[in-house]
Amino acid sequence: MDEHYGYTMRRLRIHPALREMLVEVRVHASDLIYPVFVRPGKNIRKAVPSMPGVFQYSADTLIKDLKKLEDQGLRAFMLFGVIDEKDKDESGSHILSQMSVVADTLRAIKRAGIGMLAAVDLCFCEYTSHGHCGIEDKTTGVDNRATALNLGKQAVQLAKAGADLIAPSGMMDGGVAAIRSTLSEAGYDHLPIMAYSVKYASAFYGPFRDAAASAPKHGDRRQYQQDPRRDRREAIEEAMRDVAEGADIVMVKPGLPYLDVLAELRGTLTTPLAAYHVSGEYAMLKAAAEKGWIDFEKVLMETLTSFKRAGASVILSYAAPDVLEILSDKS
Ligand code: PBG
Repeated sequence: MDEHYGYTMRRLRIHPALREMLVEVRVHASDLIYPVFVRPGKNIRKAVPSMPGVFQYSADTLIKDLKKLEDQGLRAFMLFGVIDEKDKDESGSHILSQMSVVADTLRAIKRAGIGMLAAVDLCFCEYTSHGHCGIEDKTTGVDNRATALNLGKQAVQLAKAGADLIAPSGMMDGGVAAIRSTLSEAGYDHLPIMAYSVKYASAFYGPFRDAAASAPKHGDRRQYQQDPRRDRREAIEEAMRDVAEGADIVMVKPGLPYLDVLAELRGTLTTPLAAYHVSGEYAMLKAAAEKGWIDFEKVLMETLTSFKRAGASVILSYAAPDVLEILSDKS
């Protein structure tokens, strides 16, 4: 009887060296992709109020900050373009040219000698006058076929400008296939696609839509993003279809509320998985920390560790610079 009251599970937790020795799941700088916002112009570094520590940059100031982060060990970033309302149109044609803010910035980053992996978010919501993720359709929200074809065109433009990883985020059916085939035809068969395969219609994207000026002018995105109330089978179906169409990495988004989905996909697919620690998750951490209610660094690392434990290899987070600081303090 006595053995039930003695040490059973705790034996391995008592000495700190043994505790550390047994750690299986760690967050590394090399896991991170840092999402950044870029707009046309010079010398811009405009704070995003709902995301403390996040800025809208022009290419020159972005390059300065990216260089510093590269020195601190950052290996990858992801670009989002932000443009003025007057430059938007029904189809988001801004982003279908070599003159787009994202193409310009990619070339400038490469010219500056930054060797990090340059990922690009592929969508239309930042560039359309109505704010939806493609060409509007009155019945279905977005014209899927026309938008998928445009995604293919956008991918080739960004590949030409120097993108290293293409990340379609619009949840269009057949979007990955369209991108894969136009990339191949244009000679970019080697470029990996990280698909936002499992993307929920989430209220956690609120602060991002301020940062990217991409909120829909009317309606919402429930006609193309997933309903959080569907069970995990829909997520598996979305992910398997994207892999069949040519996706190399599958993303789940948001992160923390969908860890069950991430873990289930880890058990189902063999492709690497990514988790997006989205704007609302970041804003909540920052706000509670500002109030002194939580320890920002500890809660951040615990959160990102949970993504890795659930099966993610890749973590997209606005807190990437914080993580670099935290990791460098430890060593
Ligand atoms: C574009 C896009 C969104 C995010 C990434 N790509 C917004 C949306 O779908 O409305 C959200 C990122 C975040 O909240 O951090 N479609």
